[in-house]
Amino acid sequence: MGCLLALDQGTTSSRAIVFDAQGQVLAMAQKPFALATPQPGWVTQDAWAIWNTQIGTAQEAISQAGLLAGDIAAIGLANQRETTVLWDKASGKPLAPALVWQDRRTAPWCQALREAGHEARIQHITGLKLDPYFSAGKLAWLLQHTPQARELASQGRLAFGTIDSWLIFQLTRGLHVTDISNAARTMLMDIHSGQWSAELLDLFDIPAAILPKIVPSGSLIGHTAAGLLGAQLPLFAAMGDQQAALFGHGCVHAGMAKNTYGTGCFMLMNTGSEVIHSQHQLLSTVAWQQSGQPTQYALEGSVFMAGAIVQWLRDNLDFVRHSHEIEALAQQADSSEGVVLVPAFTGLGAPYWQADARASLSGLTRGTGKAHIARAALEAIAFQVADVLNAMQQDAPTPLTELRVDGGASANNMLMQFQADILGVPVLRPTLTEITAFGAVKMAGLACGLFNPSDVADMWQLERRFDSQISADERQARLQQWQAAVRQVLSAHG
Ligand code: G3P
Repeated sequence: MGCLLALDQGTTSSRAIVFDAQGQVLAMAQKPFALATPQPGWVTQDAWAIWNTQIGTAQEAISQAGLLAGDIAAIGLANQRETTVLWDKASGKPLAPALVWQDRRTAPWCQALREAGHEARIQHITGLKLDPYFSAGKLAWLLQHTPQARELASQGRLAFGTIDSWLIFQLTRGLHVTDISNAARTMLMDIHSGQWSAELLDLFDIPAAILPKIVPSGSLIGHTAAGLLGAQLPLFAAMGDQQAALFGHGCVHAGMAKNTYGTGCFMLMNTGSEVIHSQHQLLSTVAWQQSGQPTQYALEGSVFMAGAIVQWLRDNLDFVRHSHEIEALAQQADSSEGVVLVPAFTGLGAPYWQADARASLSGLTRGTGKAHIARAALEAIAFQVADVLNAMQQDAPTPLTELRVDGGASANNMLMQFQADILGVPVLRPTLTEITAFGAVKMAGLACGLFNPSDVADMWQLERRFDSQISADERQARLQQWQAAVRQVLSAHG
């Protein structure tokens, strides 16, 4: 019947979505799983829970769609990036909890490399900032603190992987590979050659034999093992979730950009087959590689707190019972009345990269109420995106003319309007909300021959366009107020 199965493995849940050959959603299953914070700044997950929830949702979605496994032409995988797993290839068991991308325990490791003068070289090779966000430090930490890791490595049994690699190993029962877009997030890959960097492996003391083989994002990667999904299904795509969203939005030409509003915000701009080394604190990363074609690159601005700010208001301050209620609360105030929230709860990501900055709430008066703070919280999401876009405009050879958006908070009309106001660039929201999963199956559908490029171009449809409704002067004044608050946060912790 020619359907496609997307596996969308995110930070807080695993999801599986069945699409038909026209790109319409037929069925979806979702299973959340826990995240542990054993110490301040540490964030871990049970790698088994990631696998079990993911395979469980795949089985559920296929049966919900009323399909037989044989109706699935191909699987496409999109996953949370950088999260690091170490496992024994012989038993298939993880050796330690997975270190999540949000885990900051390797800040001292990064600092030591910085002080030893390695930062510029690492950035040149990988396109990344020297930051705890990426996998290399997490892997070095796991190698040091996991009993038997080095011994298993010497026996050729130890495997390292990001979540794509871990899931593919389990899905195929033994294939140890990673796609190039995920490999680009490890801080171990040479972004120019698409190969592991021997120089960095040596510097970080990481044995090459534990690394997966790097494969294109869109290619026949392998088949699911018999007994898992009812038939041995071909896996035709694997991509980091943000790169999948860029592809799902149809940002396939240099200069096109998207922003995903999830736990954090991730803005990516396609830069074509050229690596653009950012001069303004952004990351250079691989967008994707389709089999036999040149690698495509992107500039990325990663913001660590977006939807998580609303969760904080909901869970820690009891402002609302459900996240979506924040819009109605914020609308009770006509403006934030000078209240500014700088949400550096876990440091600041792009373009500031201040791991130990801490959040601030300023401009409070006797009249400040919950509505003003809720409004300032939503505005903080948009201001952070504006900072990233501003940096991107300076790095990119052509100006950005529109921003395509997705993710939970993109449903918030007030936020999207404010986003367009503060960017001065139109914000475009598509009809399809499952853009990340769609990106993965679009890549798989192209790789297996179910789709051709002209079919998929029409699958992105505009639902609503937001244009700026404020003057350039007003925009400038709001941005200056925000930037003053950010400067205060940076100086308090610099
Ligand atoms: O880099 C981290 C990113 O891939 C996480 O995405 O959607 O799981 O929050 P998400």
